[in-house]
Amino acid sequence: MNKTPVIAIDGLAATGKGTLARRLATHFDYAYLDTGMLYRAVGIATIRDGGDPADPVAATKAAQGLDPARLEVLAQDPDLRSPVGSDAASKVGAIQAVRDALLKFQRDFAASPPDGKKGAVLDGRDIGTVIVPDAMVKIFVEAMPEIRAHRRFLELQAAGQNVTQAQVLADMQERDTRDALRAAAPTKAADDAIVLDTSHLNADEAFEAALAIVGQKE
Ligand code: C5P
Repeated sequence: MNKTPVIAIDGLAATGKGTLARRLATHFDYAYLDTGMLYRAVGIATIRDGGDPADPVAATKAAQGLDPARLEVLAQDPDLRSPVGSDAASKVGAIQAVRDALLKFQRDFAASPPDGKKGAVLDGRDIGTVIVPDAMVKIFVEAMPEIRAHRRFLELQAAGQNVTQAQVLADMQERDTRDALRAAAPTKAADDAIVLDTSHLNADEAFEAALAIVGQKE
């Protein structure tokens, strides 16, 4: 069987999973897909079309109209990474028809990574549970909420956003609750995922720990 090696990185916001996934992709020379950007792009497109991201009809129309092949261009838009983009993404992400519209692109990316890459790293919420349930390696990244809020606060501050740490923590807890309790693909570790807690790890230490996990599974 000629199966593409896939590393699935799931977890809640600001656990460090994006940085980790990107570094793993570079290390193994695999293609990388930040699936959160798909949901962010749909959320912002819904708002720009004059719709409410929590409205299934408006959000599904935006998801069906999204050209995921343009994701790299869309991701340059600073609104996607903003708190409004996070909130909109989490609202559209709770709608099953939106998830269905984005499924094929993600599965195709994993099965046939672009640019002739031999493997793929996908990061998101449901990669190990729904998108690539037979991924070679599944890592579920966790960290304490206060630590995650502090990291996200520093990121937003560096990006010039005018936010307080208390506001970031409150927004994050609202989003965590929605992401974890929703009926459609709730964020949870797959049964065969390895949990990596990054609360007390810096980016290098998290990367080393992830490499060790991949090494055990390869
Ligand atoms: O990973 P990121 O924080 O960019 O994701 C933004 C939002 O998109 C999440 O809060 C989640 O609701 C949604 N999402 C999702 N499934 C994914 C990736 C992101 O539902 N695979």
